[in-house]
Amino acid sequence: MQIEYVKTYDEMSQKAARSVAQQILLKPESVLGFATGFTPEGMYARLVELYQEGLIDFSKVTTFNLDEYVGLSPDHLQSYHFFMWDRLFGKLNISKEKVYLPDGNVEDVQKSCLIYEEAIQSAGGIDLQVLGIGPNGHIGFNEPGSDLSGMTHVVELTPSTRKANARFFDSVGAVPQKAISMGIKTIMNARRILLLGSGSGKWDIIQKTLHGPITSMIPASILQLHPDVTVIIDQSTTGLK
Ligand code: PGA
Repeated sequence: MQIEYVKTYDEMSQKAARSVAQQILLKPESVLGFATGFTPEGMYARLVELYQEGLIDFSKVTTFNLDEYVGLSPDHLQSYHFFMWDRLFGKLNISKEKVYLPDGNVEDVQKSCLIYEEAIQSAGGIDLQVLGIGPNGHIGFNEPGSDLSGMTHVVELTPSTRKANARFFDSVGAVPQKAISMGIKTIMNARRILLLGSGSGKWDIIQKTLHGPITSMIPASILQLHPDVTVIIDQSTTGLK
């Protein structure tokens, strides 16, 4: 693991955007894995700037997002479809057909998971997967205790994750109970991983993830076994002990 501590959220976002830009420059038809949440928002804003400055071209890029709620339509303000089109895709020259998010707004969500996994494989696998980390060490919606060899699947969200995400909804009760998430194996299959650590109260979980035992109780700790992980940690919000 290559671990980098930076002083501010902006610095983390700049560095992360540069890393994604470099991936696209080296391989214009890259398959990128993206995440939602507060953590990567600054990186997306910087990627939009780099695109507007004419430095990167998304026309050949394919993207797969980590997860999506079950039961929200793509135009729901809290759906991850909406988040990604609003913050990033809608501002780039990316082809709609090359943008993938799990479809949680269907009857057969299990089938949706299989279709998603097949789409990743048909695209040739993910070149670079961007990840945030939850306060409980989750990656995607792979909560503590998740199967470390799991592929894309339906997840029952834990009370702590629903509470953490309630800030975006009217109340905790309005947060969907389920989501579709890439599994840990899906994430580990990515050729490169960029893990961003930002957010108050995350210092301990980040340290355990990077330096503690590998355990399904801290799903992100499995990343220690991945051959090509870069971690950028924003000290201003995670804090320093
Ligand atoms: P956050 O969420 O970026 O909004 O802190 C990260 C996560 O839960 O994976």
